Amino acid sequence: MAKPKTNYVCNECGAEASQWFGRCPSCGTYNSLEEQLLPQSASLPSRGLHSQRNGKSAAKIPQARASLTFAQITDNHQERWSSGYDELDRVLGGGIVPGSLVLIGGDPGIGKSTLLLQTANQLAQRYRILYVCGEESGQQVKLRASRLGVGNTNQDEEENGGASVEVEPAVSVEAPVKSIPGAAADLYVLAETDLEEIIRELEALRPNVAVIDSVQTIYLPSLTSAAGSVAQVRECTAALMKVAKGENITLLIVGHVTKEGAIAGPKVLEHLVDTVLYFEGDRFASHRLLRSVKNRFGATHEIGVFEMIDRGLREVSNPSELFLGNRDEVVPGTALVVACEGTRPIVVELQALVSPTSYSSPRRSTTGVDYNRLLQILAVLEKRVGIPLSKLDAYVASAGGLNVEEPAVDLGMAIAVVASFRDRIVDPSTVLIGEVGLGGQVRSVSQMELRLKEAAKLGFKKAIVPKGQKFPELGLEIIPVAKVIDAIIAAIPPQHHADEEMLEEDED
Ligand code: TYD
Ligand code: MG
Repeated sequence: MAKPKTNYVCNECGAEASQWFGRCPSCGTYNSLEEQLLPQSASLPSRGLHSQRNGKSAAKIPQARASLTFAQITDNHQERWSSGYDELDRVLGGGIVPGSLVLIGGDPGIGKSTLLLQTANQLAQRYRILYVCGEESGQQVKLRASRLGVGNTNQDEEENGGASVEVEPAVSVEAPVKSIPGAAADLYVLAETDLEEIIRELEALRPNVAVIDSVQTIYLPSLTSAAGSVAQVRECTAALMKVAKGENITLLIVGHVTKEGAIAGPKVLEHLVDTVLYFEGDRFASHRLLRSVKNRFGATHEIGVFEMIDRGLREVSNPSELFLGNRDEVVPGTALVVACEGTRPIVVELQALVSPTSYSSPRRSTTGVDYNRLLQILAVLEKRVGIPLSKLDAYVASAGGLNVEEPAVDLGMAIAVVASFRDRIVDPSTVLIGEVGLGGQVRSVSQMELRLKEAAKLGFKKAIVPKGQKFPELGLEIIPVAKVIDAIIAAIPPQHHADEEMLEEDED
């Protein structure tokens, strides 16, 4: 096979060069040139710059295609396959769309391979699945599979006596395809990194779903750049997509998140694929969030919640329980807020601690909440409510380490700080929802009804909310407040005379 032609393109200005330069000859940016495959003009339809430039194919008369009106387009009901996990299905917008291309990104070690192996096993009950592992050998996948209890009910496992599956290591060129003993019947594993081999296997096996774990480890031999480079990742995905669309294979591709936080370099893949999911979580906490950032077949900003246990990932269908903290023993300085992730309300406990500082300037620190919003709230409490916080250290954290950075948790944060300052307990059956403005006013936030319903469902009795909205009867006492001071009075009622006097002064 003739070596395909490549050239180099600048990531910054798009200038093309036939050889690599350390510095782009056009715009002068250092290290911005990336190798790319040149389209073979004979096999491509006449379009784009290349064909116009060499004039040959431009002369061909383009094939006429009839455009359709919207009415003429039949809108068939979109088929969906259940992944076996409700949490994953919801994030995907109701299940896997056959023939689609889903990219799953996340930090190394967060659990992408675990999630996909479990999903592949579930899918394999009904469909033919090829799991391409470029990172691990077949033995490693087998080891993980047996730990996950993949196909535990199957007789094969006992017959095999736990013997490792005979899959060649990832470096092998001729890695045979073997199904994992004990796994669902139609789950095939291929330990391979050469994309040409992978494509050959896809065409031969014709699976319904193929998992590529990960896109950074596979390479196209015709490109000289290393596996994982922007050029390799882009060309490999494009090649896989071409085969997948041709054979109607659903592709689930794993991509590692780079230092900059993008999947495989600056957004190189996101525009190619149908759906982009991020799998994230605190490495020290057991919960994992699956978040959709792009979805051609559903809403984005949906989240799915999983928990990493010793036998793999477990779905968490009621995430509020995970982030509520220990409710048996309520300590001063905690408040409950209802955060919203997509259309998913989650009740989260915020914990605050204020204590005299031993430094010249007090320390402020946050975990899971926005640092700058804490500073703003401390300033509002000092100036509008008259609580002297400027000589105190302040720490605010969300229980379970969930990131709740939306403004709707402001009010809860303010109340938690005041409660810690006064060493008082906030009624544990009360939730707080609202944004705090610089003037000390409580502003309304989105999806109020959804949040209140979740609180009512979990058995909370009272909700302190921004004034000015009407809600249907939800079995919850609604306490509307206009100012932070009103919320403080409602959540932490004055205990004795001195407290009352202080509050009266504040209101003046
Ligand atoms: P993995 O799926 O290999 O991560 P990724 O593919 O995103 O790099 O998950 C690795 C982590 O998950 C590893 O640190 C151990 C943990 N883990 C468990 O806690 N329980 C399990 O059953 C499994 C399989 C992994
Ligand atoms: Mg992995």
